Amino acid sequence: MHIDLINLQRKGDERGGLIVLENSKEIPFEIKRVYYIFETLPGIRRGFHAHINLKQLLICVSGSCKILLDDGSEKRTIKLDNNHTGLIVHQYIWHEMFDFSQDCVLLALANDFYNENDYIRNYNEFIKIVSQINIL
Ligand code: TYD
Repeated sequence: MHIDLINLQRKGDERGGLIVLENSKEIPFEIKRVYYIFETLPGIRRGFHAHINLKQLLICVSGSCKILLDDGSEKRTIKLDNNHTGLIVHQYIWHEMFDFSQDCVLLALANDFYNENDYIRNYNEFIKIVSQINIL
């Protein structure tokens, strides 16, 4: 599985850090929605879904966490532990987030509004769908 990591350019100076995210530039899609996950309790694992159309860029702007990516035939775990690396989560990738540090703030930029119909929340169904896509 290809892991799409984006290295964000730090524009900070002697006063401190600054990183800019602009539509279709640093982010390879139009941003329609932003959300962030924080104060995640120890031992919590979340996500457990894949999207049909949604693309997202995840950036751990504070602290660290791990992201499990699963395309139905391969699983990879990526640790996000800095504020200048973005991980793209493509369509039809089952993902889970875990090992959140206490100070973790995970920022997600998405190319569409929230739509529950875009979620595949059942893993067996996900495997069925991706194996059908891979046959075609
Ligand atoms: P959920 O999908 O469980 O989060 P995760 O996949 O990270 O475990 O979302 C938690 C709740 O927040 C759920 O009730 C749906 C709602 N929600 C929105 O209303 N808009 C959003 O953009 C997101 C991501 C979630």
